[in-house]
Amino acid sequence: MPNIAIISASIRNGRKSHRVALYFQKYLEENKLSTVEMLDLNEYKFPLFEERLNYLESPSSDVIDFAGKVRSADGIIIVTPEYNGGYPASLKNVIDLLTDEWSRKPVALAAVSNGNFGGSQVLTSLQFSLWKIRALMVPAMFRVPNVHETFDENGNPTNKQAFTKTTAGFISELFWCIEAKSRMKDYK
Ligand SMILES: Cc1cc2nc3c(=O)[nH]c(=O)nc-3n(C[C@H](O)[C@H](O)[C@H](O)COP(=O)(O)O)c2cc1C
Repeated sequence: MPNIAIISASIRNGRKSHRVALYFQKYLEENKLSTVEMLDLNEYKFPLFEERLNYLESPSSDVIDFAGKVRSADGIIIVTPEYNGGYPASLKNVIDLLTDEWSRKPVALAAVSNGNFGGSQVLTSLQFSLWKIRALMVPAMFRVPNVHETFDENGNPTNKQAFTKTTAGFISELFWCIEAKSRMKDYK
């Protein structure tokens, strides 16, 4: 069974996108598809980036913990809000912090907004940054419009059927990339 890390990127007071992170956690665990590590950036509360982990003289235990969980994950789902067409500083903060941990890591993106377009603009810039740092970007992307209406605080969709098919497709593409990578493990 793969180990999936979910990075919940919003640290905003009253955030809503965390609902979608909880939804993926439940979906994966209840369907026994993977183990899940929830990497909630609101709990880590990392200080602003000063240098990459590789160059930090005495990284905090939280930084080491976060890096270890990214490294050991078979695949990652990033749940990000869209802020002014881009992704939040909290997320850039941890993308820049790590280096090798991202390399060839299957990463699937879920964008969340309270408008009608489901964070479609943030996906472009976020995909580019992660591609630059050599992550394996999963082509399928997940968009959640009107999050305040479509998910409750516990991560339950108000209309379960509305997301069933897209979730299955999104997760299966992530798992395809994890499987493809595992078959290449002896290839240098
Ligand atoms: C600074 C800021 C900028 C935002 N810009 C956008 C935007 O460009 N497009 C959009 O659809 N929603 C935008 N929103 C609304 C978010 O989509 C909304 O807050 C949503 O709940 C996801 O963010 P959250 O997890 O922080 O709640 C913005 C919200 C904030 C706080």
